[in-house]
Amino acid sequence: MSRALVIHGGAWSIPDAEVEPHRRGVAAALDAGWAVLDQGGSAMQAAIAAVEEMEDDPAFDAGIGAFLNAQGQVQLDAALMDGSDLSVGAVAAISRVRRPLRLCRELLGAEHVLLVGPGAEAHAESLGLQMCAPERFVTGRERRRHEQWLQERPTSARGAFERGAGPGDTVGAVALDHHGDMATACSTGGIPGKPPGRVGDSPIPGAGFLVENAVGGCCCTGWGEGVMRVGMARTALDMLAAGQTPKRAAGGAVNALATRVDGLAGCILLGHDGKAGIAFNTDRMAYGWRGDAAAPHAAVADRGGSTLFALGDPLCKIRG
Ligand code: GLY
Repeated sequence: MSRALVIHGGAWSIPDAEVEPHRRGVAAALDAGWAVLDQGGSAMQAAIAAVEEMEDDPAFDAGIGAFLNAQGQVQLDAALMDGSDLSVGAVAAISRVRRPLRLCRELLGAEHVLLVGPGAEAHAESLGLQMCAPERFVTGRERRRHEQWLQERPTSARGAFERGAGPGDTVGAVALDHHGDMATACSTGGIPGKPPGRVGDSPIPGAGFLVENAVGGCCCTGWGEGVMRVGMARTALDMLAAGQTPKRAAGGAVNALATRVDGLAGCILLGHDGKAGIAFNTDRMAYGWRGDAAAPHAAVADRGGSTLFALGDPLCKIRG
């Protein structure tokens, strides 16, 4: 079975100065995930390795470097899904679990799919998972961004995205292993200045992610409220199941988001045959992919003024 890994490091108006750190970060995450597949590891292990690499890289809005909420606090959302049995483990609004995906992993196959806030943290403690102070995730860059947010206070997250001030640096991965098993992992700090308790698309199956061995897997990034309202990952997988190529299905999901709720986001899509598609309608998106049939490739793509874009289109401009 042909192995493949596709990852993303966010879709938003990635500033020029942050393009290279994003490209380096997705390249390192791609290497980390592929090393797992190369050693015979599972799709789940590979997806976790890739995403945890980006959580530890302060370039991204996940783990260390996460955006701060309206009260200047970190609240993280994360999820895992296993395409072989559709099990999901998801957490939201947590700030004291050192490795959110380790808690997600404990929830895979357990009775409950999604735990939030202090209850999720208490569960992590009861399992003996490593805990930390919330400050571990807070960087000086995000304190400065929060100061700026306090001064500007955009009227809506959607409005902030529109004028390029709304970062959507959620990170994610979809992997296919040599057994034909597929898995997804997502992790995010959400959006800057979010109200305490706000949960985005990243821990919601069918919205921020979805994977099924017989079809493929999808991870989304961007303005979570829009992604949730259209069920963006479900939309992409349904199009894939209906026979569209991953590229067309990814583009179709972004198009549905844009036309139905005026949304701004991107998604990565990996078919069960190892073919990948990426689409976004934000200014830029950081991504990487590698497969037995595809050389490693990590870049920040630029939409270049088109309204809808899928990797491989002539309008696509690749940076880095
Ligand atoms: N896409 C991340 C969020 O909206 O929380």
